[in-house]
Amino acid sequence: MSSLSIPHLLGLHDVPKQDLELILDSTDTFLEILDRPIKKVPTLQGKTVVNLFFENSTRTRISFELAERRLSADVVNFSASTSSVKKGETLLDTARNIEAMKVDIVVMRHAAAGSVKFLSERCTSRFLNAGDGAHEHPTQALLDMVTIRQKTGSLEGLNVCIIGDIAHSRVARSNIYGLLTMGANVAVCGPASMIPYDLERMGVRVFTNIDDALDFSDVINVLRIQLERDAGADFPSLREYHNAFGITRRRLDALGKDMIVLHPGPINRGVEIESEVADGPYSVILPQVTNGVAIRMAVLYLIGTRAE
Ligand code: CP
Repeated sequence: MSSLSIPHLLGLHDVPKQDLELILDSTDTFLEILDRPIKKVPTLQGKTVVNLFFENSTRTRISFELAERRLSADVVNFSASTSSVKKGETLLDTARNIEAMKVDIVVMRHAAAGSVKFLSERCTSRFLNAGDGAHEHPTQALLDMVTIRQKTGSLEGLNVCIIGDIAHSRVARSNIYGLLTMGANVAVCGPASMIPYDLERMGVRVFTNIDDALDFSDVINVLRIQLERDAGADFPSLREYHNAFGITRRRLDALGKDMIVLHPGPINRGVEIESEVADGPYSVILPQVTNGVAIRMAVLYLIGTRAE
């Protein structure tokens, strides 16, 4: 394997295609390890990784921890709710104190956009962004891309539409950057109140009608309505959102074509996606989760063993 040009994974904006290809291509090696009876290799033996999660997470936190342990790293988990953050310690002081304990890699989720970059510029560890506010969630987009590629063979020329709460979504932003770099045709669909104004300038098609979006698409990535970030204020009711934009089996069957349905999770069943779709033949939601461990192993390996 060759090496990445980037020292940290802060987002997919400006990550060169060669780096994305290296990460995506490395993932098969790590998927193979996950299928072995003993799912462990010594790749990061002697390295210490701290998982610094200031926001809730199920998939990303467990997936990163499993990836770290599968690579034989020493793993420390930090939870903001039981830390000295509660006594008023700043983010930078927290990070510098943890780093003084000789940590090599920091995986971080935080509600503030730009917080991971902020620390990466002031600390000496390698930083991996596990989601910063509504900014970026790069490993989610990478696992989405690898899952699509498993089904289609290539991302080049593929029509991919991201559906839902685009404005609040770090997943949308990272997917848009990564997919455009890899040569996909990218669209978004949702209520106008949930679509940022500058997307068309980036070469992203914008649909406000779900049937037009589905006609365009080979792949859809259905986003969660983020009620905890006040998304509910952008449309009249969850029932109306479901009627206008919800992904239903009836809508997909009526297209009469193959369709690949992704969702980053957690799912609001019956809001942005019907259970019959989430659990049905169009869905690759659980393969996304499996691929998440492998892609995080690939990123940890490539960043953790990269020469200074
Ligand atoms: N997809 C995702 O980031 O899920 P979690 O919030 O559970 O980590």
